[in-house]
Amino acid sequence: MTVGFTLNGQTQSLSCQPDRTLAQVLRDDMGLTATKEACSIGRCGACLVLIDGKATNACLTMAFQLEGTAVVTTEGLDNDALAAVVRKALAEENAFQCGYCAPGFVMALVALLKENPAPGEENIRAGLEGNICRCTGYHSIIRGALAAARMVQETLK
Ligand code: FES
Ligand code: FES
Repeated sequence: MTVGFTLNGQTQSLSCQPDRTLAQVLRDDMGLTATKEACSIGRCGACLVLIDGKATNACLTMAFQLEGTAVVTTEGLDNDALAAVVRKALAEENAFQCGYCAPGFVMALVALLKENPAPGEENIRAGLEGNICRCTGYHSIIRGALAAARMVQETLK
């Protein structure tokens, strides 16, 4: 089957089998390996992408469901000002150790801050509840997320 959608702003016409997930297509067929896959059952958030602006697990999204959508992967955030703020804040707080979970956390925070540029800690914790990190105790990630929210609010003043 063939599916038409945009990927990081580029029009795509993708031929795929009906049992292929978006995570498989991105990583295996398109070489976009910044999207990680860990649990493959929608529990860890490593595979988050934006679909029509909403953070979505690529491991649970079938490629055939993409028709007419706009997909943004971690690679597509490289020129995104909000993502730059999030990445900077997380780096300054040494938020990650191995970094495998980082693209998913960044994607979740970008989606959260696009929707709510002034989240409180409760909102941030709720926004990240679908993301798992096996290395840290989450404190540094939450500190980084709070710092990112403060930076966003400063730039909006
Ligand atoms: S790999 Fe998709 S949620 Fe874990
Ligand atoms: S830093 Fe290693 S999984 Fe999060």
